Amino acid sequence: MANSASTPVSVYPHEHWSSRLAFVFAATGSAVGLGNVWKFPYITGQYGGGAFVLVYLVCIALIGIPIMMAEVLVGRRGGQSPIHSVRVIAHQEGKSSGWQIAGWSGVLGAFVILSSYSVVGGWALVYVWYAVSGAFHVAVADPAQASVAIKGIFSGLKASPAQLLLWHTVFMAMTVFIVARGVKAGLETAVTYLMPALFVLLVLLVGYAAVSTGKIVEGAAFLFRPDFSKLTWDAVLVALGHAFFTLSLGAGVMVAYGSYLPRHISIARASITVSILDTIVALLAGLAIFPVVFAHGLEPGTGPGLIFVTLPIAFGQMPLGAFFGTLFFVLLVFAALSSAISLLEPMVEYFQEHRGINRVTAALGAGAGVWSLGILSVLSFNHWEEVKVFGKNLFDLFDFITANIMLPLTGLLMAVFAGWVMSRASTQEELELDESLGYWLWHVIIRYVTPVGVAIVFLYNLI
Ligand code: TRP
Repeated sequence: MANSASTPVSVYPHEHWSSRLAFVFAATGSAVGLGNVWKFPYITGQYGGGAFVLVYLVCIALIGIPIMMAEVLVGRRGGQSPIHSVRVIAHQEGKSSGWQIAGWSGVLGAFVILSSYSVVGGWALVYVWYAVSGAFHVAVADPAQASVAIKGIFSGLKASPAQLLLWHTVFMAMTVFIVARGVKAGLETAVTYLMPALFVLLVLLVGYAAVSTGKIVEGAAFLFRPDFSKLTWDAVLVALGHAFFTLSLGAGVMVAYGSYLPRHISIARASITVSILDTIVALLAGLAIFPVVFAHGLEPGTGPGLIFVTLPIAFGQMPLGAFFGTLFFVLLVFAALSSAISLLEPMVEYFQEHRGINRVTAALGAGAGVWSLGILSVLSFNHWEEVKVFGKNLFDLFDFITANIMLPLTGLLMAVFAGWVMSRASTQEELELDESLGYWLWHVIIRYVTPVGVAIVFLYNLI
């Protein structure tokens, strides 16, 4: 790694992405996932649409992009797992090694998120099977009955711990398999072809929703016409949390991916590209889903089942629906997988580089831990449905604690670390921005806007 005057502090020679594009694809693969296609529509439905979406977009621009830059730069400079990257940089800057807590809290968040993410990834997998077998077409003779029948498919799945566990296991096994193969062979190839395909299919679905339901205007109005009377502080917290979730921030993921980033690739450009692509995918998903919701008299705020009910209804009635339905859920599985591998990567990188465990064993061990925790999510939909903590079942509780608390807090630590702990000279060097307007803007945002924004949202929610 003897390139450039700026000495990377890493002592661990490891793989690198093969190009700028490869990093952008991998980071986009991480960012674009169930968060965009499954979670964004259902929380937008729950929190009333337009105003929520607007807050979410502001969070992406003002908090998400600057923190993504901070995480990637910390990763590239440290060149190791999130935990050690932060530690080694703190050491180099003459600051306390206690900052590594930012790395630990990220990895812990990733662990918990992946456990329930994999359960939902399992839903996407089994929906591939439903689509292939024509399950969405059962009620086509009587369109009015379609939504009832299709809701039944989803509730039937949730009621069966054996089914959920089976598909959670398959999804986790696929994730471990890809991660075990390594950064280039496993991660890069998987995302390079599948992301563009998902994008094209979503555009097709939006077109179909527009033509077949005639409700595209209502759908778009729901997404884009803000009604601030519906906006609560709770909604702002969820929007903030989702900005972290959808951009894969606050969990060490972008630090880990940054550690594989070759030098002389613009971190700012890459981060902005990834964030824009991620946002477009989420909005497309919303535009494909809400017209169907309104055309079929469904409730936008039904929660996690939203896409697993609306899209099958659309597929059940559209020409070539079995084909498009299958294709869609296959691509959703891949989008979920490219995110899941990114959630496993920081742990594996840590075990591999600092515990001297080989990659395959590390992936298997971390995967087994995540899988076990996932069983709690599986049970929260059936046997333990009534187990409530703070009024939430375990699945919702994990989601709340990780997305709305752990990710923003870890992000806050990363912002403070990059803005206040690291010297101006080092962040400037790593971002390769010199004393430009761009650097100044980033520095002001990361020092003041981001920490203050996150703090305000938290304080209001506490009170
Ligand atoms: N961003 C992914 C999605 O939207 C999920 C994800 C991958 C994630 N890595 C993450 C979420 C790290 C939080 C932190 O589906």
